[in-house]
Amino acid sequence: MIYLDFAATSPVHPEVWETMTPYALANFGNPASQHELGQSAKIALEQARTTLLHLLESMQETHQLLFTSGGTEANNLALQGVVRNWWKEHPEAKKPPHLVISAIEHAAVFEVAQWLAAQHCIDLTVLYPHPENEGLITPEQVVEALTPETILCSIMHANNETGVLQPIEAMVKAVKAHLPSCLFHCDMVQTIGKMPINLTQLPVDFATASGHKFQAPKGCGFLVCSPAGFEALAPITYGGGQEFGLRPGTVSVANAVGLASALTLKHKTLSENPLHLSRLTTWLIEQLQTTFGAMGEINTPLNPEHRLAGIVNVSFASHLGEKLVLKLDLRGICVSSGSACHAGLAVEPSKVLLAMGKQKSIAESSIRVSMGASTTQAELHTLMEALQAIIQVKDKS
Ligand SMILES: Cc1ncc(COP(=O)(O)O)c(C=O)c1O
Repeated sequence: MIYLDFAATSPVHPEVWETMTPYALANFGNPASQHELGQSAKIALEQARTTLLHLLESMQETHQLLFTSGGTEANNLALQGVVRNWWKEHPEAKKPPHLVISAIEHAAVFEVAQWLAAQHCIDLTVLYPHPENEGLITPEQVVEALTPETILCSIMHANNETGVLQPIEAMVKAVKAHLPSCLFHCDMVQTIGKMPINLTQLPVDFATASGHKFQAPKGCGFLVCSPAGFEALAPITYGGGQEFGLRPGTVSVANAVGLASALTLKHKTLSENPLHLSRLTTWLIEQLQTTFGAMGEINTPLNPEHRLAGIVNVSFASHLGEKLVLKLDLRGICVSSGSACHAGLAVEPSKVLLAMGKQKSIAESSIRVSMGASTTQAELHTLMEALQAIIQVKDKS
């Protein structure tokens, strides 16, 4: 089997599993317990928190990290938590606060914002990329959308379908210069663990990460908060006082240790072989272009600076994406069509591609090839052969 669906999920790294096991078996204590077993679990939990903050080069003395059940929960906590806290502080307000998101956000941001707007808890502005901009939102667009009531902008780092990489650093700086009180959340689920992230350079107030995208287990992730972000957050679930009272529930120490170990390993791999994925991505895009020409539309930015290495999204207008995925599966190759979270549901065109201004025929025929550190050029060769056989292009040579 050739696995080219790393943006959907990745296997737990054996070394990560090994570091986690003691915290599931012998050292199983509850970090909230006062006895020795609990306290040693608490030490491991806090070490994991410190390691993660350190790897992300956040200001460890000031930033906080909340462990969650994954990217979806971390995004919900950031958006709903800020809005709840605002209403707690402004119970008499006649006008709701204002939020800005992009039209290509993952459902774990997009649907939350839509729901909050439907409940009249917020006014919402949704930004669309200009059609000629390969999915990029500009800092100017974000600034233009701000109103004196804007309390939060939520723009993702890399899009999960196309890999387009937003200019977050310039956006945050522009937003803060224009409206210093406005907070900035960034869904970094597709970038944390896949490229070096320096939260001092990318001074967002909230950053979301998900373990299963970088070889930690599924069902764990975290939200990093700046001091201003941490102050502006209310819990969205109620229970015990864990995670500073902001995310109640017994924390899985094994998962926290796994997250720290997986991110440590990823940083090592990234520093040892930083160009591996960008080379493969460029090679695959070039192969698709020369082999299929106008029959294959590349939906991933062609400028390497505007994309996350490792994701290539292509549409063959003559083939529905879902069908192409199944045909490749029959040949032992795993890719996805559109967002994996929607796979299995009725075929509908990719909202992300439509929002980018692509035609319906392109938006319903896209497949996403996503690579990991273990991906080889030979695997991509096999993919190209399979695509040629399915799309039935005559070899030009
Ligand atoms: C950009 C993005 N955000 C959020 C999520 C949700 O993360 P999780 O699966 O950990 O809930 C995903 C998952 O595919 C994603 O790609």
